[in-house]
Amino acid sequence: MAERLQKLIAQAGMASRRQAEDWIAEGRVSVNGHVAVVGEKADPTRDVIEVDGRQILGTEKKITILLNKPRGYISTLSDPQGRRLVTDLIADIPERLYPVGRLDFNTEGLLLLTNDGELSLRLTHPRHHVSKTYLVKVQGTLSSAMAARLSRGVVIDGYKTAPAKVDHIRSAGTSCWFELTIREGKNRQVRKMCESVGLSVVRLKRIRIDFLDLGDLAIGKYRFLSEPEIQRLKQ
Ligand code: URA
Repeated sequence: MAERLQKLIAQAGMASRRQAEDWIAEGRVSVNGHVAVVGEKADPTRDVIEVDGRQILGTEKKITILLNKPRGYISTLSDPQGRRLVTDLIADIPERLYPVGRLDFNTEGLLLLTNDGELSLRLTHPRHHVSKTYLVKVQGTLSSAMAARLSRGVVIDGYKTAPAKVDHIRSAGTSCWFELTIREGKNRQVRKMCESVGLSVVRLKRIRIDFLDLGDLAIGKYRFLSEPEIQRLKQ
């Protein structure tokens, strides 16, 4: 909803409405790159509002991207060890985006990044049971007994995992590939689940979150989610 600029600036805690009006009159406020005029309104969910060239807090455009994360990138915003960050791959996007949940350094695949707190909470809160599917490569063979244990739930870190789905098991020489769909997001959950049935993960790729998949997105590339996709995720 569009609101008067002085109200939005005051809501952001930067100044009183009166002072914000003075800033507008002095030409210090802009909306989507043009200098604002007194009396102008803007929609904080769509428009970029800046004072002295700095975007006012809480008014960033909501952006969500789907990244095909390569192995060897860390999904935090900084790393004391100086490892490569997933945000290095989206350096051309001016908005500050946060990873929705985490993928391990050596896990690849579908990672969402957003500045939309509501969407992030919707996707990560355990109450919503959002499904995540992983393509897993393990050393050795996943027997049907092991698959049944993974599906029923196994104990990791003293916690029993919720029912999961195991699909598309196929052996390849001394290793085996399968898909595992879980509705939780504990730390290193897939690796720990596999370890609990005696298998060591050699490759891990997230291929789906809810209805979203990687499509033909190349490794290291991203795409913007569309508004209908975002609305569907929020449902
Ligand atoms: N499970 C893991 O073990 N690692 C990930 O990165 C994601 C899920």
